[in-house]
Amino acid sequence: MSDTDEHDHSADEHSRRSVLKAGAVGAVAVAASGGITTVAAGAGTALPSPASTADVTLRVNGVERHVTVESRVTLLDALRERVGLTGTKKGCDRGECGACTVLIDGQRVKSCMTLAVMEDGREITTIEGLARGDELHPVQEAFIRRDAFQCGFCTSGQIMSAVACIREGHAGSDTEVREWMSGNLCRCGCYPNIVDAVRDAAKGQVK
Ligand code: FES
Ligand code: FES
Repeated sequence: MSDTDEHDHSADEHSRRSVLKAGAVGAVAVAASGGITTVAAGAGTALPSPASTADVTLRVNGVERHVTVESRVTLLDALRERVGLTGTKKGCDRGECGACTVLIDGQRVKSCMTLAVMEDGREITTIEGLARGDELHPVQEAFIRRDAFQCGFCTSGQIMSAVACIREGHAGSDTEVREWMSGNLCRCGCYPNIVDAVRDAAKGQVK
């Protein structure tokens, strides 16, 4: 290696260190100016931010449930762990499988993708809220009649989604049902029976 090469190498190292250092200082400055993260001056150690909690009223299946939750708690976790309604299932926990589908003000929502604090005061319907006493909802009956579940893990989400799908007027054909139920996955591959069940229930004009 020539002297020139060595000089160039050391100059490169120097400038790289300078860039990294400048970047680190900038990152701390940005965090501080945003007031998001606390960084101990000189120590370079991020301290955990204090957990913020909120009092929330969840109107679930017609009953008001008052819970105190951290602002980061999903509606799914609040329903299962705070309210004690475990019929809504946690599959992927990232919006991909639909197992956690509930109705909010009549619209289907993946409850793992919304925060409990965002649903304060809104009407939430879970699978536990469909039956009227001993009388099953027509979609529940249709799922049983058509044997539209095996392990059943996806089933509550499928049923909630089907109720909304029919109400939306999106159950006019098998193709339409498949398209509008495509956000709900079933590992057991019960799709043909699920489609049959949704079509049966749709013919009965589910309310
Ligand atoms: S658990 Fe919510 S979409 Fe899978
Ligand atoms: S019945 Fe098992 S995942 Fe759908």
